[in-house]
Amino acid sequence: MKKLAVFASGTGTNFEAIDDACKSGRLQAEVAIMICDKPRAAVVQKALERGIPSFVFSAKDYACKSEYESVIVQKLDDLGIDLVCLAGYMRIVGETLLGVYEGRIINIHPSLLPSFRGVGAVEQAVAFGVKVYGITIHYVSEELDGGKIIAQRAFEYDGNDPAEVHRLGQVIEHQLYVETIDKLIR
Ligand code: GRF
Repeated sequence: MKKLAVFASGTGTNFEAIDDACKSGRLQAEVAIMICDKPRAAVVQKALERGIPSFVFSAKDYACKSEYESVIVQKLDDLGIDLVCLAGYMRIVGETLLGVYEGRIINIHPSLLPSFRGVGAVEQAVAFGVKVYGITIHYVSEELDGGKIIAQRAFEYDGNDPAEVHRLGQVIEHQLYVETIDKLIR
């Protein structure tokens, strides 16, 4: 049984999909901790309701990134985390966390990388008039959305509504994240 850590900052639908897959036996893993930098995010309540331990912090309570990342690394090490899954975690991972977990941290991004890195990827793509959208799962490196690609899935959409692209993309995200975690932990 592998141990996962899920990092999130928002709604947490990917967190739910991963935890559902663990609880149903689809993944031979458990979500051992959920880490969130936004105390009021919906994902915090979701973790509580699911009985998943969480570490919720505010970056402003720490002097610098390496200070809160040291706390996180200690928690991950204590739990024996095998894989860190970023799922809408809106912070750049720094050298303290990467130094220990590089190669074991993955992220999901709502575009076909290397196109449309960073925040607002879907909005950027819609503004460009993109016709083929997609989801990417990649290793996390020091470069924003720049690590080696592990999996991608595309879908066609010929319209100009970012909300619809998000909706279509999230259905794919939830499947692709579980499939990719499954491959990586086997
Ligand atoms: C996802 O769209 C993911 O691609 C991006 O952040 C979003 C998180 O969504 N990195 P949720 O909080 O899992 O619903």
